[in-house]
Parts: sequence; structure tokens; C-alpha cells
Amino acid sequence: MARLQRLVFNGLRNLAPLDCRIDGDALLITGNNGSGKTALLEGIALLSSGRSFRENRLQRCQQWQAPQLTLYAEIENRLGHQRLGWQREKQQTTLRLNGENAANQAMLAQQLPVQVFSPESQDLLTQGPNERRRFMDWGAFYHEPSFLNAWRHYQHALKQRNHALRQQRPSAEITLWHKPLLEAALQVHDIRLRYLNALAKTAQPIMSQVSDSLAQIELAYHAGWDSEQDLLSLWQNQLPHDRQLGYTQAGPHRADLKLRLHERDALSVLSRGQQKLLALSLLLAQSQHLRLALAETPILLLDDLAAELDQEHQQRVLTLLPQLGAQTILTATQSNRLIMPTTQHWQLVNGTLIT
Ligand SMILES: Nc1ncnc2c1ncn2[C@@H]1O[C@H](COP(=O)(O)OP(=O)(O)OP(=O)(O)O)[C@@H](O)[C@H]1O
Ligand SMILES: [Mg+2]
Repeated sequence: MARLQRLVFNGLRNLAPLDCRIDGDALLITGNNGSGKTALLEGIALLSSGRSFRENRLQRCQQWQAPQLTLYAEIENRLGHQRLGWQREKQQTTLRLNGENAANQAMLAQQLPVQVFSPESQDLLTQGPNERRRFMDWGAFYHEPSFLNAWRHYQHALKQRNHALRQQRPSAEITLWHKPLLEAALQVHDIRLRYLNALAKTAQPIMSQVSDSLAQIELAYHAGWDSEQDLLSLWQNQLPHDRQLGYTQAGPHRADLKLRLHERDALSVLSRGQQKLLALSLLLAQSQHLRLALAETPILLLDDLAAELDQEHQQRVLTLLPQLGAQTILTATQSNRLIMPTTQHWQLVNGTLIT
């Protein structure tokens, strides 16, 4: 399983330069509002995915007036000891893996799988299909690494077809893209389907353990088109309408993860707190699934877990976490709100880490 052993951060938000070692599987970071707890987790997520989980503009993560933002971590994963580096200077990002330049972010993501749960994670379920697709695809990427290539090919062909549609190109120029589009579409679809079927099995006991209200939730994959129908004929038939719209209507880019409860859309039934527990359960299930399927457990970053959860559910989650075998880093505003055994404890005071 992946374990962070050392973090060295410079120029990240309000954090003073830090170099610290992590021992063991549970780390609790406490501090007042604005002390930098989320920023620290953000740094770990950035190193893995190249994205911040709370904003799109990387520039905002870099400390005001700092010449660069540098993130470095040493980890131990199933392939051994790894050194990962990520630096941003003047809009340029440089990636390093074990002392050499890394060609792309996926190389770092493969080494350092990270699952983030933050107060915004509810958006994963409620902000529409984009976020739910992103959730599925994160898992599909680790489940079957060939997913990334298939997805890239699909995006490329889709972009070309949409471009030709918008330019009102002759039909032959548009349908030229159907073959490569179909090939990649079916690969993306098949991998997602296999992944979701496997995930549903792992998710069920976790949802029940987290909350009785989630025991009956069912996960269903929606392909992005009527999968009874042949996708190629669909694109052909929808061509005139696609032309009017300027984009392709049907395909895996419109896929969704549906959550059902008693034959209804679960999101219209569950309370806010229950939605939060559902999002958390799904993330924990993803992590558990990867451990069982790949012997690689993502690092869990749980930001402000206690917010909005009552004592009973906090306790249920905290009991479940050690059973998942993942290294877990949690933040809280008051240490006494999260009582975990054998926890390493750091404090943040105005951006300075006290270990
Ligand atoms: N680019 C930046 N440069 C310097 N400081 C920044 C930058 N962006 C944000 N900050 C400051 O860094 C701090 C980051 O706080 P962060 O969100 O990590 O706090 P937190 O400990 O998670 O607080 P809360 O308990 O409210 O969630 C804030 O005080 C914010 O004003
Ligand atoms: Mg925070």
C-alpha cells in the first residue's frame, strides 16, 4: 500500500516551508480556521493529480510573492521507495520521479494514489454527471491503466468530430471520425462497466457500516446513450441534430453513475448529512476496491471530517477507517472531536507546523 513517509513543501498558500516525516498509518492535523490544514492536504493532492481539489487556478495555490511552489514527497508503495517532485514557476510545471524528469502527471498519479474527502466532496454526487464521471474515471484509471489511453483517444476523436460539426463540414468529413470514436468509446465503456460492477460489490458493506440509511443504496452505470442501440447508427442518425447543436449528443462522454434508493433517485431522498456519508462511503469503497484488486491502497485525505457529521456517524467512520488498511491523514479544528487510537498528531499555527 502507498504510504507517505516525508513531505517537503515550499511556497504553498500560507504554509511556512516544511520538511517533516510521517510515521504510521494515521495522522491527525489540527489547527484553527485559516491555519493551513486544507492547504497541506491540497499540496499532497497536487503532487498526485496536478489539480487542487478546491480550485481550478493553480496560481492561487502558490504563496503570494513566492517565486515558486515546490512540493516533494518520499513514499513507499508496492513497487518500493519513490521520490516525487512537483514544481511550478512562472506558469511552468516541472515533474520529477526518482531523480528524473517525468513526462506527465499520470506517472506521478500512478505512484501516489490519493483519495480526498473534503466538505466539497458532496459535490461529487450533487453537482451533476461531470463530477460523478470524474469519480468513476479516477477509479477506472487505477483499476485498468489502459483506461487512460482509451479515454484520451476518445476525447481526441470527439473533439475532432465536434469541431467538424461546428464548422458545418461535409458529412463524409464528420463520419470519418466515427470509426476511431467507436473503437475508443467501447473501450472506455467496457472498462467503466467492469469497474463499476466490481466497485458496487465493495461499496455495499461499507455503506451499511457507515450508515443504516445507506444499506439499500444501489449503484448503476448509465452508459451515455441507450446501450440497447448501436452507437454507430446512433451517431449516423443523429448527425443532422448534432450539426444544429454543434456537438455530439450520444456517447460515453455523457455517462453517469446513478444512485438509487427504493426505486428513486437517492439524491432526492437523502438528507445533506446522509449525502455526505454516501459520498464518503463511495470514496472509501474505491480505496478498498483498489486494495483488494491491485494490492495498492490510496492514501486517504479527510479534510474536516467532523463537520456536519453527528457523533454516532463520526464514530462509525472512525471505527471503519483502520479496517481499510489505508494511510489516513485527517484534519480537525479541535483534536478532541476526533478520537482515534495510535494517531500521530501535528498542529498548525498560522501556517507553521508543529510536529
Ligand atoms: N496564495 C496564498 N498565499 C498566501 N496565503 C494564502 C494563499 N491562499 C490562501 N492563503 C491563506 O492561507 C490560509 C489557508 O487556509 P486553509 O484553507 O488551509 O485553512 P484551514 O486550516 O483549512 O481552515 P478551516 O478550518 O477554516 O478550513 C488562509 O489563511 C488563507 O487566507
Ligand atoms: Mg480547511
